[in-house]
Amino acid sequence: MRRTLVQIQFNSAMKDDIFTDIPFQYESISAATKKLSFNMSSDLYTGSLLKTLVASKLAGHILELGTGSGLATSWILEGMDKQSRSITVENNEVLISIAKQQLQDERIEFVCTDGYEWLQNYNGKKFDLIFADAMPGKYDLFEETLALVKDGGFYIIDDMLPQPNWPAVHSLKAETFINELEKREDITLTKLNWSTGIIIVTKISNN
Ligand SMILES: C[S@@+](CC[C@H](N)C(=O)[O-])C[C@H]1O[C@@H](n2cnc3c(N)ncnc32)[C@H](O)[C@@H]1O
Repeated sequence: MRRTLVQIQFNSAMKDDIFTDIPFQYESISAATKKLSFNMSSDLYTGSLLKTLVASKLAGHILELGTGSGLATSWILEGMDKQSRSITVENNEVLISIAKQQLQDERIEFVCTDGYEWLQNYNGKKFDLIFADAMPGKYDLFEETLALVKDGGFYIIDDMLPQPNWPAVHSLKAETFINELEKREDITLTKLNWSTGIIIVTKISNN
């Protein structure tokens, strides 16, 4: 069957690698990141999804674990309304300094510290959305991190499909983690076989 022009145009509009709303700081952050040998940045798909989910949280309180150089942070910032606030935690001073310099905005608090210590000492209010993109908060201290998500809030992870930089044992670790998540009754989740492998978790209300 011949496809009409309308169908062709529609299919191209649905191409998920077309991003029309990339944060304006994205290019300069990417350029600064390329000068370092850092290859763990979140991709455009993850960033775009984060922006959309963050935008669902009006006056949201957002946490990112693993700022890197701030690529995902730039998308998170784009999704935040004027009343939203975010905290982003990173232990690499060089990386977080790029994010700090490029994303100057009073709604973001940049914290350069060890994520394990930060999570164990944090005693502020719970979060509407946590993007856990470092070992602490994901494979380690998961219970503590999930406890910081409000009921109805999101817990987001990427890199859940095998990545080229994974050590051999990591696949088993990821698989075990996913299996454990799926057994829980205090969350509901959707696995996206898309981007680097994303899992969107929503914390279920007890009420
Ligand atoms: C996958 S990368 C994050 C990429 C980031 N989301 C981006 O868009 O560029 C993981 C980050 O976690 C940081 N990290 C690793 N261990 C950490 C720890 N113990 N505390 C804080 N940050 C840590 C790494 O330095 C790295 O920047």
